[in-house]
Amino acid sequence: MKAQGAPLLEQLRRAAPQISAGLLTANLSALGSELKLLEAAGVQLAHFDVMDGVFCPMTTFGPPVISACQTGLLRDVHLMIAEPLDKLPSYVAAGADLLTVQLESTRHIHRVFQALAAMTNATDPRRGIVRGIALCPGTPVEAVEPLLADVELVMLLAVNPGWGGQRFVSTTVSRAAKLRQILNAAGADVLLGIDGGITRENLADVLALQPDIVVTGSAVFDGRDPAGNAAWMVQAAQAAPRRRPKPAGGA
Ligand code: DX5
Ligand code: ZN
Repeated sequence: MKAQGAPLLEQLRRAAPQISAGLLTANLSALGSELKLLEAAGVQLAHFDVMDGVFCPMTTFGPPVISACQTGLLRDVHLMIAEPLDKLPSYVAAGADLLTVQLESTRHIHRVFQALAAMTNATDPRRGIVRGIALCPGTPVEAVEPLLADVELVMLLAVNPGWGGQRFVSTTVSRAAKLRQILNAAGADVLLGIDGGITRENLADVLALQPDIVVTGSAVFDGRDPAGNAAWMVQAAQAAPRRRPKPAGGA
């Protein structure tokens, strides 16, 4: 039985596909106003790319920055850190709503999800925490099979972890199709996310893969028109064909 994620998971299912805005190239000295801009544009998820200088060459931010953000957006926390198990409680305490861990970052990935199953959403205990597993472009998608009962989200990285603004790795298209087959064969109704290299130019192609969550960072925070970019992306996601029927009364 899935202990984690129930009401939040349902909310994400109903709203799919939706944009999660990556903050890596936002103005980090004005994060509050950047988050407000996203809210006004209709974005519902803020994607925090956590890098530790070990699993990824770069170091970004950690729990203090995530918890300092006063926002109505859901906190979509993507851990790209080595051996995250002991650090999970600090990210949960910081308000993670979705907490995604790289398969490649730990020897004991199953323990990570067991540990998360026992934790409670710090913002609203009834909400649940959506547990995500992320796969680098070089990791076989079949690796998620033994974990499908223990996660609510599988996130395919369409770039190598480490930086914003990279090119979308084209094999992500066939990987997403193969992953969808695996999920269907297992009868696993987990969310599918695609993260990295997604721009205005390729968003339609990515949405055609029927993801539930699309993470896009530098194409929103491009230094020119983040509000316009975010609104445009949200509109495109809302107009995309839905994998699940639209619920009565709208999403
Ligand atoms: C890569 C990160 C991505 C990335 C998204 O390490 O997980 O979230 O920063 O940024 P763009 O959209 O610029 O690829
Ligand atoms: Zn990410």
